[in-house]
Amino acid sequence: MEQFEQQQAQTLAQVAAAADLDTLEAIRVAALGKQGWVSALLKSLGGMSPEARTSEGPRIQAAREAVSGALAARKAALESAALEAKLANETVDLSLPAPRLPRGSVHPVSQVMDELAEIFADMGFAVATGPEIEDDWHNFTALNMPETHPARAMHDTFYFPDKDAAGRAMLLRTHTSPVQIRSMLAEGAPLRIIAPGRVYRSDSDATHTPMFHQIEGLVIDKGIHIGHLKWTLETFLKAFFERDDIVLRLRPSYFPFTEPSIEVDVGYTLVNGKRVIGGGGDVAGGGWMEVLGSGMVNRKVIAFGGLDPDEWQGFAFGTGVDRLAMLKYGMDDLRAFFDGDARWLEHYGFGALDVPTLSGGVGARA
Ligand code: PHE
Repeated sequence: MEQFEQQQAQTLAQVAAAADLDTLEAIRVAALGKQGWVSALLKSLGGMSPEARTSEGPRIQAAREAVSGALAARKAALESAALEAKLANETVDLSLPAPRLPRGSVHPVSQVMDELAEIFADMGFAVATGPEIEDDWHNFTALNMPETHPARAMHDTFYFPDKDAAGRAMLLRTHTSPVQIRSMLAEGAPLRIIAPGRVYRSDSDATHTPMFHQIEGLVIDKGIHIGHLKWTLETFLKAFFERDDIVLRLRPSYFPFTEPSIEVDVGYTLVNGKRVIGGGGDVAGGGWMEVLGSGMVNRKVIAFGGLDPDEWQGFAFGTGVDRLAMLKYGMDDLRAFFDGDARWLEHYGFGALDVPTLSGGVGARA
C-alpha cells in the first residue's frame, strides 16, 4: 500500500509540473488509461477478500478521484493560460497610424493605349504588333520610300551597325507604319487593325524624346473611301476626348505611303489661357491643333503588302499617343513622361482598377 501512496504522490507532482497539454495527456494515460496504475488497482479489487475489498475499495476510488481531479484542474489552468497568451499577443493598437494605401499607378501612356484599344475594339479593330527592331524594308521600302527617298533622311533614324541575314539594314522603327505591311502580309484582306507601340527618332527637346509612342490604324477592304476615314477619325476623337463638339479640319499633306495624304487638325477653345480640345477652330478665341497624319493607302503599299490594289483599297492613320495623353490630361512637358519620378506618377497616374470601358467611360474617373 505504501507503493500505491507513493505512486499517487508522484502522479500528483507530475500533474502539478506539467507545462503543456501533451505532457498532461501522457500522465493521464499512465494513471487512468487501460494499462495505467489506477486501472490496475481497480482491477485487483476483484481478487480480494470481501474484508480487504471493503477497506481498500474506498482508498482506491479516492486515489482515482484525486488523480482525475488534479488532471482536470491542471488542464483548465493550462488552457486558460494559453488563451491569455494568445489574447495578449493579438492585441491591436488602435492608436497606430493606418496602414499605407497600395502604391503604384497606371502610367498615362498605358492608360491612353487602353482607352484607344477600347474605342477601336468597339469599331471592329483588332490590336496588331510588330518588332521595335525593324529592317529598312518594312520601315521604309515597303512604305514607298526607296533607298534614295528624301523622307528617309527626315526620320532621324537610329541604325544598327550590322545588317540582318537577308542583307537588310537594321534600325529602331521610326514609326508604327511598318505594322501596316506586316499585318497585310500576315493576315491578307479585309483588315481592320490598330498598332500601338514604341517608336524611336534621334530627337530631344520639351516636345520630342528619342523614344515615344504612336498608334497606327489601318483598314483594308473593298470600296473604302475618304468618307470612311473621316467618319472613323471623328468617331474616335469624340469618344477619346469624351465630347460631341469635336470639330475636324482635313488638310492636304504628303506621306509617301498614302495618296492622297491628309493631316487632321482638331479645334480647340481657350479656357483660362489653356487650350482645351472641343469647339473652337476658326471661331474667335479658338484655333486648330494638328493631331493625326492619315490618308488613303498608296497602291504601291497595298502591293508591297501582297494584295491587289485594283481589288482592295484602304485608309491609314497615325498619331502620337504621348501627345494625345498630354492634350487630354493636361501635361505640358513630354520629357517628364519618361523620368520615372514617383511624384509625377502619383499625380498623373491612374488607378489600376480604373479600367477604361465604353459603358463606364473611357476617361479616368475621379
Ligand atoms: N507614320 C506617319 C508618321 O510617323 C503617320 C502616318 C501614319 C501618316 C499612317 C499617314 C498614315 O508621321
